[in-house]
Amino acid sequence: MNILAIESSCDDTAAAVLTDDGLAANVVSSQLGHAEFGGVVPELASRAHQRLIVPVVQEALGRAGIQKSEVDAVAVTYGPGLAGSLLVGLSFGKALAVGLDVPLVGVNHLEGHVYSVFLSEPVPAFPYVCLTVSGGHTQLNVVREGFQHELLGRTRDDAAGEAFDKVAKMLDLGYPGGPVIDRLAREGNPAFHDFPRTKLGDFDFSFSGVKTSVLYYLNRLGTDEDRRAFLNDHLADVCAAFQQAVVDVLVDRVRKAVHDTGIKEVAIVGGVSANSALKREAREAAEADGFNLYIPPLAFSTDNAAMIAMTARFKLRVGQTSPLDLAAAPNLAL
Ligand code: KG4
Ligand code: ZN
Repeated sequence: MNILAIESSCDDTAAAVLTDDGLAANVVSSQLGHAEFGGVVPELASRAHQRLIVPVVQEALGRAGIQKSEVDAVAVTYGPGLAGSLLVGLSFGKALAVGLDVPLVGVNHLEGHVYSVFLSEPVPAFPYVCLTVSGGHTQLNVVREGFQHELLGRTRDDAAGEAFDKVAKMLDLGYPGGPVIDRLAREGNPAFHDFPRTKLGDFDFSFSGVKTSVLYYLNRLGTDEDRRAFLNDHLADVCAAFQQAVVDVLVDRVRKAVHDTGIKEVAIVGGVSANSALKREAREAAEADGFNLYIPPLAFSTDNAAMIAMTARFKLRVGQTSPLDLAAAPNLAL
């Protein structure tokens, strides 16, 4: 069975081909042009998807070495995400499914991240605790066989990746900020300043406090010139201290989830799972607490269509397909 998957929920236009032999193609075209605005501009994103969707799908088919006529199912993200962006991929996917007379499989983007751990060996056993940390979402679930995702907790305000991006913007580091802060933090002292670690209820997160706290910290430094001079010496330290505050909360909640549920299989997925400090500290926690940790490689942790194809494979195995009037669902939850 050859599954062609399309993902266009935010600013990456992506297509992938998954065959019975494995992943045959995984093409991601990240849109340039958002960086100068310090974030994703929805109108620009949907226009770029329109421009990129045909070449990206063609590139995926080409790399996989299959013809359109050999596609057995079309998988596509239908939410959550930007409405205009989702509509481009969804409409294209529907048209392709009709044209090829093959089933359409609508996939929840968050489900895609959750199942991204099945794209590389070793894979977790069900049930597993899953921390999804991206630019749009931060949540903890227990993932059971049969698409049951028990929600343990989620962020009540900003997503972890959003906090990285906003702090990077305050520090003039460009967009997206996560990878830059990660790189700079390697040279910094994580104990340089104690930014707040907010924990709400049993498993809920909040990252707007730490973000605001960085803003106040920078404002207290004095004039623009004072701030520039300070950051000249301590930019890496501020990045490391901020990153440490976020990572501490994430790892602490994962440990608590393992402790409370007794489940020893843990996945960390989504763009922020690429963070080197998070990876290191999660590995240390896994060693200390005796759980198995699964973090997808970078190509599958940031937005991609391979994870959409993998989720569709799980759905097709149990006969789940979608009607052609499937609507884009910008606020779809997991
Ligand atoms: O999963 P993703 O590609 O898109 C969403 O679904 O949101 O995640 C993107 C987010 C951005 O906020 C980006 O800054 C963050 O992941 N990110 C990182 C790192 N790489 C990407 N955050 C921290 N450290 C990183 N190395
Ligand atoms: Zn994502």
